[in-house]
Amino acid sequence: MSEQTNKWWKSAVIYQIYPKSFQDSNGDGIGDLNGIIQRLDYLENLGIDAIWLSPVYRSPQDDNGYDISDYQDIDPMFGTLADMERLIEEAGKHKIRIIMDLVLNHSSDEHFWFQEARKSRENPYHDYYVWRDGEEGTPPNDMKANFGGSAWEWVPEVKQYYFHQFSVKQPDLNWENPKVRKEIYRMIQWWIDKGVGGFRLDVIDQIAKEPDKKITANGPRLHEFIQEMSREVFQKGDLITVGEAWGANPKNAKLYSNPDGSEFSMVFQFEHICLDQQPGKEKWDLAPLPFLKLKETLSRWQTALDGCGWNSLFWNNHDLPRIVSRWGNDKEYRVESAKMLAVLLHGMQGTPYIYQGEELGMTNVKYSIGEYRDIEIRNMYEERKRQGYSEESVMRSIYAKGRDNARTPMQWDDSANAGFSAGEPWIKVNPNYPEINAKAELRDPDSVFMCYKKMVALRKQYPVFVDGHFELLLPEDDTFFAYARRNEGEELYVICNFFGRETALPLEENWEEMELLYSNYEPGKDAAVYRPYEARMYYRKR
Ligand code: NOJ
Repeated sequence: MSEQTNKWWKSAVIYQIYPKSFQDSNGDGIGDLNGIIQRLDYLENLGIDAIWLSPVYRSPQDDNGYDISDYQDIDPMFGTLADMERLIEEAGKHKIRIIMDLVLNHSSDEHFWFQEARKSRENPYHDYYVWRDGEEGTPPNDMKANFGGSAWEWVPEVKQYYFHQFSVKQPDLNWENPKVRKEIYRMIQWWIDKGVGGFRLDVIDQIAKEPDKKITANGPRLHEFIQEMSREVFQKGDLITVGEAWGANPKNAKLYSNPDGSEFSMVFQFEHICLDQQPGKEKWDLAPLPFLKLKETLSRWQTALDGCGWNSLFWNNHDLPRIVSRWGNDKEYRVESAKMLAVLLHGMQGTPYIYQGEELGMTNVKYSIGEYRDIEIRNMYEERKRQGYSEESVMRSIYAKGRDNARTPMQWDDSANAGFSAGEPWIKVNPNYPEINAKAELRDPDSVFMCYKKMVALRKQYPVFVDGHFELLLPEDDTFFAYARRNEGEELYVICNFFGRETALPLEENWEEMELLYSNYEPGKDAAVYRPYEARMYYRKR
C-alpha cells in the first residue's frame, strides 16, 4: 500500500471543468477540449494544480456524458483522442494534472456491453448488468430511479428487467461479476498510461447494490470492491482519487480516505450540502438553511478526519446551485459574500475544489422551463405537474436547486455569448455576463477571482493550511463562523461574518499582534466590527 502522509494533493487545489459549458473552440455552441487548452493560461494564473474534467467520453449525452458508450474514446462533440492527449500534455506544461471522471456504477445503454447483454440470457455480456425475472408490467419491486420513474426496465428479448438507479439509458453495471471488474481495471490502467493525474469516481458508494434488499448506497461488498480496485490500479501510480459518496459519514470516510492508501485519497461527502433536506422528502422540497447546523457539520468532519483521513472541501459542482446564490447574497453583497465563502472553505483542512465560474462569483439563473436542458429538471417538472404541484412552486424549486444553475456557459467577457462560443450556446448564457465575467475580474484587484487566487497561494505558502488542527470558535454564535487552525509552530484564525448585518465580534484575542493575511474589506474605523459578509484571516507564529 502507498502511505498517504506527504502526498502532493494535500496542498493542491483542484478546478472542476464541466466541458460542455467551459469554452467552445469551433463555434458549434458546445465547449470542447481545444477550448480548454486555450484557457490553460487562465487556470495557471489562478494557481490550480489539477483539473477534474467531467466526462468527455463517447456518449449519447442522455445525462451530459454521465452515460458512457465507450470509455476509451472521446465524444466527437468534445474532440478526438488526439485532442485529449494534447490536453494532458499541454496542461502538464502548465503544471496542471488532468483528473478523469470515472462513471463505473452504470454505462450507457448504447455501450457495446449492454447492446450485447440485452440480446439473450446466454450472451457472454448478459451478466455485465443487473437483471431480474418478472412479468411485463410488474417490476421486481417498487424502487425508484434517481431521475424519476421505476428503477426497472423491461427487455422483451430476454423477458427480464434490468436495474437502473439513474435514467433508463444508464443501466447499472454488475460489480458482482469479476469479469466486469477486470474490464474496468484494464480501462483505468489505459488512462493511467496516457498520463492522467487521477480520477473522480461517480456515485461510487452505489456500485455494490443489492436491489432485492433495496440496498443502493453502502452495500455490504462496497469496501471490498474499492480496495480491490485500489490495489489493482490506483496504488500503482501517484494519483489523486476522489470518490463521490452521497452516503458518506465520518465513520466510513475514514475507510474511504484511509491514510494507509488502501482505498481513495478522499471522498466528496454531502452532509453540508443536504442540510435543508427533510427526512422522507425530495431535494425539491425547499426548507430554510440552518446556519448553526452548517457550522456543526463542517467542524465535525474537520475534527473526525484529522490525522486519520482526508477531507475534500467544496461548495459547488455541476449538480449543485451556485454557492453565492445559496449561502451568500447574489445581489447587493455578491462580491463580499462570494469572497467570504471562499475564505471560509479554503482555510479548512482538506483539498479544495473550485467549480468553474465559482471563482468569478457566478450566480444562479431563472429561466423559463423550455430553456432548461437537464434531464433531472425536465423529468421532475413533468412529474410534479402531473402530481398537481403549482407551476409557481415547481419553478421555485428549479430556481433554488436545479442543476442547470451550475451549467450555464462560463462567463469569459462581455462580448456576445460571454466569449464562450461564436455560435448559439447549447444552453442560454446567464444574462448577467456583461457585469460578471473573467475579463473584468482579471483587471480588478478587488475581484472575486483575485480572492480565490490569493486563497490558492496562501495554502501553498503556510503549512498550517495543510496540517493545522481545527477548532471551531463561537459554536453557538448566530452571525460568525469562526475557527482556528494550529500546528506546532503556527496559528491561523479564520473569522467570517456570515450575514448581511454589521456585527461586533464577541471574541477576545490580541488581533493587533497578528498578521492580517487576508480581508475582503479595507480596514474600518473599528476593527472589532465586522461589516456585511466581512471575512478575515489572521496568522501568527507560536
Ligand atoms: C453524479 C453526477 O455528478 C451526476 O451529474 C450524474 O447525473 C449522476 N452521478 C449519474 O451518473
